[in-house]
Amino acid sequence: MGVPSYREHFIESRKNYPYSGNIGLEDFYQFRYSIYRPSHPHKGDPPLGFEFPNTFHEILNNLSDTLSSEFDKLQETLKEENFFISIKDFYHIEELENLAKALIPPVEQKLFGCYCVLEGCYLYRNIHANIKAHSSWIPHSDNNPKEIIKIMVYSSDVLSEQDAPIFFLTKNGNAVKNKTTRVDLNNWKSPKNDSRFYDDDLRSYYNQGYSFTPILGSRGTVIVFDNNIIHKASNPSHGRKRESIVFMIRPWKKKMETYISQKTTGSFGDKTIFINPNTV
Ligand SMILES: [Fe+2]
Repeated sequence: MGVPSYREHFIESRKNYPYSGNIGLEDFYQFRYSIYRPSHPHKGDPPLGFEFPNTFHEILNNLSDTLSSEFDKLQETLKEENFFISIKDFYHIEELENLAKALIPPVEQKLFGCYCVLEGCYLYRNIHANIKAHSSWIPHSDNNPKEIIKIMVYSSDVLSEQDAPIFFLTKNGNAVKNKTTRVDLNNWKSPKNDSRFYDDDLRSYYNQGYSFTPILGSRGTVIVFDNNIIHKASNPSHGRKRESIVFMIRPWKKKMETYISQKTTGSFGDKTIFINPNTV
């Protein structure tokens, strides 16, 4: 048998999943984003529907401290034009695995209806940079396969636009989803303009009342989103920083006993998006 399409692989993975009450397949494909804000519930946020275990905040607090001291060490060696610091060697951090075990199963159950593999893990501290908007500060979609979802956790407080929130292009809680050009193993194309969007591209959305909305929240805010929605990162004000943890997950046929491993989890600079859905 040849390699299944991503959709076929997803359907197969759903058949292997023992829990009931899954959402429909098409509901998954319609999903855009959900936000869990521990202390700043906002009216108009799409309902989350995910419930994270009580241990989540304790795990995150311990992990944030570990990561912050690691970022501090790395920041000492930085050059001026750097706008973020990343930790790439995270495989030994036990609390990170615990965080994955707290966050991923509820998303498997409520959103995917199947087990997932943690395809990519990104640990960032965004710092102020005195440079023109570039890279992910420009509105974009990640142009990933439809079956990839990101779970982003703020591990520092992001309470104002000075703290470098992520922004989504929305109107009344509805986000705009861009069509991916990476559909399947045999249908994998480069996107136009590197999936970047400029004001002229977005004019019709602005005219309809869409605007870039900052996603604010204290430490422990969880943003589950389809990374093909149009979004942008931002530059913190001078002296401010933002820390976050991003898990990128996709369907898998069996339960992962360990989510984070050198074999299955990539990070910056690695090839982290899947080509053959049957391999990790
Ligand atoms: Fe992005």
